[in-house]
Amino acid sequence: MSFHLAPSILAADFANLGDQIKTVSEAGANRIHIDVMDGHFVPNISMGEPVIRSVRSITKLPLEVHLMISNPDFFMEEFARAGADSFIVHYEGNNNLHRTIQKAKDLGKKIGIAINPATPTPVLEEILLEIDLILVMTVNPGFGSQHFLHSTLSKIVKLKKIIKQYTPHCELEVDGGIDASTILLTKEAGATVFVAGTSIFKSPLGITTAMQELTALLNTSTPQS
Ligand code: DX5
Ligand code: ZN
Repeated sequence: MSFHLAPSILAADFANLGDQIKTVSEAGANRIHIDVMDGHFVPNISMGEPVIRSVRSITKLPLEVHLMISNPDFFMEEFARAGADSFIVHYEGNNNLHRTIQKAKDLGKKIGIAINPATPTPVLEEILLEIDLILVMTVNPGFGSQHFLHSTLSKIVKLKKIIKQYTPHCELEVDGGIDASTILLTKEAGATVFVAGTSIFKSPLGITTAMQELTALLNTSTPQS
């Protein structure tokens, strides 16, 4: 079983973004997670096309763009041109999710669906075979540095079973409050991709040590692996 660590630059120091991305890359990051927020879908504004384009110019790592915006279809083409490799869109608030998925595929990009803590797993049944990744939000979207919601663990377990049975190549990602303790809980529940912002970029131990610690935990054998 291979596990992927995806540092979320939402917690990075934007005055030193290039250096910090270089540091996480050298410490073994598997992809870079970019949180786009519009102040409407979530009560916060973050970053958009210029940041994706700048990050693209300094790393070869895959760029995973998490769209917490009300109209993902409107922005995907622009973000794809800027260098996004994959998109994660939310189930919530999207009346035409299948069309959004199709749009990402037409752009040649991978597509994942995120579900918020209050959203039950069965809503994904009909689109499961169409997607590359499921993201279980382990906090309510919109802000970094929130506490991990333990109630989300049972959803990870449920989704893992379904993925194993019907679509084993689909990745299962967790996002929010992931640190040295919660990464193990989510790994044991069945997650394969781990987004971490605060615990990496704001670690008192420094970015490299934080990355090493999380990577070591992913490489330790557990019931799932
Ligand atoms: C929250 C974002 C997360 C956020 C996670 O809405 O989707 O990606 O950056 O940050 P931490 O790791 O600080 O909880
Ligand atoms: Zn995110």
